[in-house]
Amino acid sequence: MCSLRVIFFFVAVTASIEATSFNVTQATLWWQTTTLYQIWPRSFKDSDGDGIGDLNGIASKLTHLVDMGVEVIWLSPFFASPLIDSGYDISDYLSVNPVYGTLDDFDDLIATANELGLKVVLDYVPNHTSDEHAWFNYSKYSVDPYTDYYIWNEGIEVNGTRNPPNNWLSVFNSGSAWEWVDERQAYYLHQFHVKQPDLNFTNELVIEETKEILTFWLDRGIYGFRIDSLPYLIEAASLADEPESGLDGYESTDYYYLEHIYTKDLQENYEIVQIWRDHIDNYTSVKGDGVERVMFTEAYANISSIMEYYDYGSHIPFNFFMIKDENGVNNAVLDTASEVVDIIVKWMENLPDNATANWVFGNHDNSRIATKLGEARVDAVNLLLFLLPGVATIYNGDEIGMTDTYLTWEETEDPQACSTDESRYESFSRDPERTPYQWDNTTSAGFSTNATTMLPVNSNYLTLNLAAQKAADISNYKNVQALIQLRNSTIIQAGNLNVQVISESVIAFTRELSDYQPIVVLVNWDNATAVTLSLEVFDSLPETLEVLIADINSGIAVGDQYAKTSIELPANAAIVLQGVEDTVSGSRTIRSSTTRYILGLICLLPLTYNHSPMLFT
Ligand code: NOJ
Ligand code: MG
Ligand code: CA
Repeated sequence: MCSLRVIFFFVAVTASIEATSFNVTQATLWWQTTTLYQIWPRSFKDSDGDGIGDLNGIASKLTHLVDMGVEVIWLSPFFASPLIDSGYDISDYLSVNPVYGTLDDFDDLIATANELGLKVVLDYVPNHTSDEHAWFNYSKYSVDPYTDYYIWNEGIEVNGTRNPPNNWLSVFNSGSAWEWVDERQAYYLHQFHVKQPDLNFTNELVIEETKEILTFWLDRGIYGFRIDSLPYLIEAASLADEPESGLDGYESTDYYYLEHIYTKDLQENYEIVQIWRDHIDNYTSVKGDGVERVMFTEAYANISSIMEYYDYGSHIPFNFFMIKDENGVNNAVLDTASEVVDIIVKWMENLPDNATANWVFGNHDNSRIATKLGEARVDAVNLLLFLLPGVATIYNGDEIGMTDTYLTWEETEDPQACSTDESRYESFSRDPERTPYQWDNTTSAGFSTNATTMLPVNSNYLTLNLAAQKAADISNYKNVQALIQLRNSTIIQAGNLNVQVISESVIAFTRELSDYQPIVVLVNWDNATAVTLSLEVFDSLPETLEVLIADINSGIAVGDQYAKTSIELPANAAIVLQGVEDTVSGSRTIRSSTTRYILGLICLLPLTYNHSPMLFT
């Protein structure tokens, strides 16, 4: 139940990082304020009743995505693949896995998307292919020019037994990152699954192949790439053993047993990123349409390593600090408001001049927001995601607050979990956040006409589904729609960011722009205690503020007005306010009727976060 207890906090409490303001890079290009929606093709929508999502299924839902307000969709891999790692093991970069459709289906999807004004971005997985890729087959037999497409090594002989050249470990917790191949009488390197051999990025021919792949898809009408696993592209030529990490709780075959100083985050990786940036910029300039193609890059690493991707041409190096810690190892600690504020401030302070900020709270590799942070915080997270400056990335299902699905050991598919055992797999599995999208309360949640689906549907689909949220007066989904609409306003696109910790439990920021009424975002991160706040610390605010958007549990009504010095915020409540126009002469407001929703009094109890901090990085 919502707590009605109100505790008074009129004194500002200092965060571990001083509250501060940031100028926001003015957007001049289409992608700089965009909303990127990640689609997991296997679980989004099945069109042919085989229980597996597909391209035609995605195409059938594009109007829904427009209705939601997203501008760009990122499709996770649908390429030819034996699907050992859900398609991140590609056996042909230039064809569509028949499970998902055909190249013609893809072209139709792009045509429909373009008609609807949606841009499509594809996942590109350069670090490794599938071992079923033709290149690997040739390389295995030393057929030129493929002989050195992969990283081969004869290993070392110890007491008459052949061993891998060093102690490097697979990310997927399966032990050695080297696998012996009889045909070649050598080991190959696989930083991920044994069926995902690493390409050799010191080989110019490999780099040329990567450019051709990018061009192939750009020619089919896409607007950019999400590039996978960048920290792993290049390994140290010395092949030196990596030291033990000393981290607790890892077995000697677990990835984090070692500290990855020779296999991750090498400086040479950035040069490859710059090659791709130059290639896609060149594509745009030859095309002559003036629409920049964009690179979103995936790297879990420390802040300086991430920011360096901007310097080498990544438009958007994903900001994963709301998901993982500074080193990309453990889950981010988001226990208190000041921990969340610290992450916002750290990102903004480190952002290079003229770079575009971005925010990510969930994806296919990490526990869902509603499970990890609590169902009652779904709206709160979305307020942060959509109203902080720059690009917002949302994972399909998070707009309706989907939760992780419990799966038995027998049901588990994720190789990262399958390489462990029945007693530990839950800590490692990414399947819980990959179950079918919950469209409605019909068979298989409207995902498929088939009652058996790729992974089981979460049993909560009867009440937790999109159709129910569209029908309700207030819902997580309707708040996402309102937030995305608000993103289109000048103040959110261009307003400076002023972040403050005004009580121990509250995240507070404003977006401010001269001649516009400021927008204020307030999130009570405490899940048990209400607070009453004064916003006097924000100099630019007028005396009266009006609620534009409020989370579904807060009991606060859209249109409610507050004196700046006294705002009561229940536990977990999150609201967006705007200064009332008449109090600032000559001001303009950007309020829209779609942001006015009546509030309900439903209170959802936060779920306990039960993923271990050891998930994939
Ligand atoms: C990162 C992807 O996000 C993840 O799902 C995949 O398992 C690894 N890269 C390996 O490709
Ligand atoms: Mg299908
Ligand atoms: Ca590599």
